[in-house]
Amino acid sequence: MSRIIRLTAKFTAVWAAALCLGGCVSGERVGDVQGGHGSGHRHRGDIGEYVARLEEPSRESWQKRDEVLAALGLKPGERVADVGCGPGYFAVPIAVAVGPEGKVWAVDVEPKMLERTGQHAREAGVSNVELVNCREDDPGLPVGRVDTILIVNTYHHFPNRAAYVAKLREALVPGGRLVNIDFIPKSRDERGFGPPLKMQIPREAVDAEMVAAGFRPVGSYDFLPEQYFVEYVTN
Ligand SMILES: C[S@@+](CC[C@H](N)C(=O)[O-])C[C@H]1O[C@@H](n2cnc3c(N)ncnc32)[C@H](O)[C@@H]1O
Repeated sequence: MSRIIRLTAKFTAVWAAALCLGGCVSGERVGDVQGGHGSGHRHRGDIGEYVARLEEPSRESWQKRDEVLAALGLKPGERVADVGCGPGYFAVPIAVAVGPEGKVWAVDVEPKMLERTGQHAREAGVSNVELVNCREDDPGLPVGRVDTILIVNTYHHFPNRAAYVAKLREALVPGGRLVNIDFIPKSRDERGFGPPLKMQIPREAVDAEMVAAGFRPVGSYDFLPEQYFVEYVTN
């Protein structure tokens, strides 16, 4: 665990440096964007603003990234998919934590999010991140190869959740796990940020959908002030 904290602390410094540099892109390629469908969900506003919000330094106070990473207990060599990775806020430190023997599929419908993830991966000096430009209705992951699927603040975006979660289940190795972190329903007035209340899904509803898809909850953490954090394994 201390190794993960050390690695993520290193990553935090790299990330901060990248932000200070104003997001310049180095010439190196981490990996080609796979797929290129991107025809589904589109954020209606400006993507640059969306990225900036996800990278807002104040996010650390409630997102507690290092604590989340420590709780995940990632092991060197682990193969992780970050579904709805956004600008790589979790995907890139995970790539550092699992090391060169491990792998991260950074999955998103939005190519610009993947470009930003690739930029952060290059800044962090990792080459084990595969950028997957998925379709809205399909995460585009290989069958039976993923140890851990992480979904942060994204589950509520999936259009047909039962079908999507079935595909996620197929991607897992036997005994693999799915971790979902999402907002505890609250209005914008109450929280001041986050998705509209009507898009937020209570933990109990997610549990029921996961059980229907052949998962069972095996653990949860309550150190995040704004989100539930639940781990599921396949039955
Ligand atoms: C609120 S952001 C969260 C990003 C990242 N997980 C984080 O915590 O910083 C949601 C992300 O999910 C992506 N997304 C939306 N629908 C998706 C889908 N059906 N499959 C994969 N990604 C999706 C969006 O493009 C966006 O980058």
